[in-house]
Amino acid sequence: MKFAIAILAAGKGTRLKSKRPKVLHAIGGQPLLEHVIHAASQIVEPSDIYVIIGHEADSVRAAVEHTGVRFVVQAEQRGTGHAIQELRSSLLEGDKPRYDQLLVLSGDVPLIRPETIAQVRDFHAAQNAAMTILTAVLPDATGYGRVILRSSNSPEVAAIVEQKALTNEQRSLKEINSGIYAFSLAPLLAHISRLTTANAHAEYYLTDMAALLVAAAERVVAVPADDAAEVLGANTIREMMLLDRAMRLRTAEKLMADGVTIFRPETTVIDASVEIAADAVIEPFVQLLGKTRIGADTVIRSYSVLRNVQVGEGVLIRNSCVAEDSIIANGAQIGPFAHLRPGSQIGENAHVGNFVETKKARLGKGAKANHLAYLGDADVGDNTNVGAGVITCNYDGIHKHPTTIGANVFVGSDSTLVAPLTIGDGAYIAAGSSITEDVPADALALGRSRQITKPDWAKKRRETRRN
Ligand code: UD1
Ligand code: CA
Repeated sequence: MKFAIAILAAGKGTRLKSKRPKVLHAIGGQPLLEHVIHAASQIVEPSDIYVIIGHEADSVRAAVEHTGVRFVVQAEQRGTGHAIQELRSSLLEGDKPRYDQLLVLSGDVPLIRPETIAQVRDFHAAQNAAMTILTAVLPDATGYGRVILRSSNSPEVAAIVEQKALTNEQRSLKEINSGIYAFSLAPLLAHISRLTTANAHAEYYLTDMAALLVAAAERVVAVPADDAAEVLGANTIREMMLLDRAMRLRTAEKLMADGVTIFRPETTVIDASVEIAADAVIEPFVQLLGKTRIGADTVIRSYSVLRNVQVGEGVLIRNSCVAEDSIIANGAQIGPFAHLRPGSQIGENAHVGNFVETKKARLGKGAKANHLAYLGDADVGDNTNVGAGVITCNYDGIHKHPTTIGANVFVGSDSTLVAPLTIGDGAYIAAGSSITEDVPADALALGRSRQITKPDWAKKRRETRRN
């Protein structure tokens, strides 16, 4: 048997009231369509996946091109049935079908799991059906098409009726059409041109294939999903956010099953693409996004937000840190309230404390910047101590310049280091200095005016004021 998968993704998503096409809205950190493609790729090769695009076709194609799927353009979106009509020539070799079965998925039904797609495929084959519809029973079925069975104790379907066409009697039916189907390709292609637009939206409905095939004496069956939550669609932002929650809980549950401790998982925001090793601990209200990876025995405290950050083992990230496109090595301690901007590399056992900002900065092993510092375009050697309030002045208003600080350097508090600047190993910078010239290894540099002390000055002033 040869299988192809079609993913319907050409619609605009009018009910979202968004300028972005619906299938590019993200849940769990990835576009809806990418989740569906990911599930489909577990069942067939990407070259047998046909994504039907139309509305904002170029941006949809660009967003998922890396998956290697094929694209078919439905220039005018005249309904889900029309979308499959547009696919016709891709499914034929001459006038022979290239596949036995076509599985149809919806670009806006993103929680579907590969196991369920396989279940529909196998049920379809076992039933010898022309069309199999994945269904679910929902407490509130409003908005979905309803599946009308021929009798209550057989899987055989009579028709699918869209919300707007429901009779008063049918409105209470709870078995919905998920928009996911298996078709035998030969009867599908033989009858799909018979769809009409005689309905509320004047569109070609793919759902009408059910009644058409039944009328042609073909077998149409329904298979209920094990988990109704998996086939929920997203037509509005509210529904989208419900799916986002479900997707993130699914991610958190998988991580917990793999040995990660996540306190109050319902408060965390963890993208499906994030990897976390066993024995890591994630506190409430943490966000882990993009390609973030967390090593074993690392603790991430509440309110920290990490995007594309590689974190080693045994790291402590205290509360309310923000980090992006950075690397944190084993045993480092960060925060609270630290800001690691792109290109930060924090070495083994290094410390970055409260209100410290780094950007394109490397801190060597055991280096410390514990309080109130800005390190930009900087390289800090092993075991160097950067005092409170130290600033690398990396920007002259036009260009950025580097600061290189050697190993075992002591940079006194409140120093300004005017780049470009090199400070040699073991040097000592007096507190409060403005350093504008290179400092050789092992030297002391002072860059501040000498203190003046006037004995009794304050006392005399008070006395003159009193008279
Ligand atoms: C559809 C089903 C409905 C089902 C529901 C499940 C039809 C007529 N109705 O309704 O029975 O309960 O899905 O979620 O199929 N699309 C195209 N080209 C078009 C129109 C739509 O590619 O011309 C795509 C959309 O981008 C979307 C999918 O098809 O990804 C479904 O379209 P949508 O308008 O969301 O259909 P529903 O009203 O949800
Ligand atoms: Ca929909």
